[in-house]
Amino acid sequence: MMEIKTIEFKDDILYLIDQRKLPGIYEIFQCNDYKEIEFAIRDMVVRGAPAIGATAAYGVVLAAKEFLKEDEFFKKMEEALVFLGNSRPTAVNLMWAIKRMRVLIESNKNIPLDELYKRIKKEADNILDEDIETNKVMAKYGNEVIKENAAILTHCNTGALATAGYGTALGVIREAHYTGKNIFVYADETRPRLQGGRLTAWELVQEGIPSKLIADNVAATLIRDGKIDVILVGADRIATNGDTANKIGTFMLSVIAKTYNVPFYIVAPTTTIDFDIETGKEIEIEERDISEVTHIDGIRIAPEGIDVYNPAFDVTPWENITGIITEKGIIRLPYKENIMKLK
Ligand code: MRU
Repeated sequence: MMEIKTIEFKDDILYLIDQRKLPGIYEIFQCNDYKEIEFAIRDMVVRGAPAIGATAAYGVVLAAKEFLKEDEFFKKMEEALVFLGNSRPTAVNLMWAIKRMRVLIESNKNIPLDELYKRIKKEADNILDEDIETNKVMAKYGNEVIKENAAILTHCNTGALATAGYGTALGVIREAHYTGKNIFVYADETRPRLQGGRLTAWELVQEGIPSKLIADNVAATLIRDGKIDVILVGADRIATNGDTANKIGTFMLSVIAKTYNVPFYIVAPTTTIDFDIETGKEIEIEERDISEVTHIDGIRIAPEGIDVYNPAFDVTPWENITGIITEKGIIRLPYKENIMKLK
């Protein structure tokens, strides 16, 4: 299995695989301060809910490093926490990581600052390491719902690139493949940013997992024709009733899956659950620049003057979800009751 180091922190520099350039160019993007980390998240050098959470945690480390010798350390840290937390609005793992760092800082206000810096760094390392472990546990639970010879459909990129390593939905796919289930994967291209076509396809090829890339509009035909046994997708935020925000197009897939009785699973760590909201209506959906739709690789494909609607995520209602695969097991109906048990 190939090791993909999406996020690596060494000698006070954060190294990220530049996901804007894959698969054509494999390049490492260096962040030397927390403002560069905020940029990397906002511009999607790094993306995927768990990956941006861990990246933001290292943003807090670099902010602490910068402010260590300055006055008003705690005031400046709070500003940096807010700044990093606002880099993208939908994935709750980002807010979760910021909150965890904030709690650590606030509960250690009385220790020397260089000692606090060490603890902040350790906490960021823990977030990164825990995410990989979580994904591996989740993959084992998820593998239980994958039958021999299954054809699996997936959307967006939920692999090592979207996490600290291994992946969520793609982690289950890895596990099924390496436990010899003879699976076959259909990967949606995932317009407009093509995370499926560029990133999932890249990971599938690296791992030698039998697969085909499809344009998003092929999925309905495959599902209707009985060519898909199970659909696995990730999540950016899960409400306590089970409504799930994920990459735009996920909702559409879930409707087709329900129509044709194909099991539709969300694979996500419990850090993706927002225990503060009751339904998906409360989730802020990010809208991104229109150039993501009007251009591909800088080349204009739509006429000048056309207006564009470009939401990055949608919400799949709980009724369309067969189960939510987490590191604590598979959550099934009734979601509200079973999700709250995890709090
Ligand atoms: O806009 P992105 O690429 O950050 O969106 C990513 C997704 O929607 C993923 O499906 C989700 O974060 C789960 S990743 C393990």
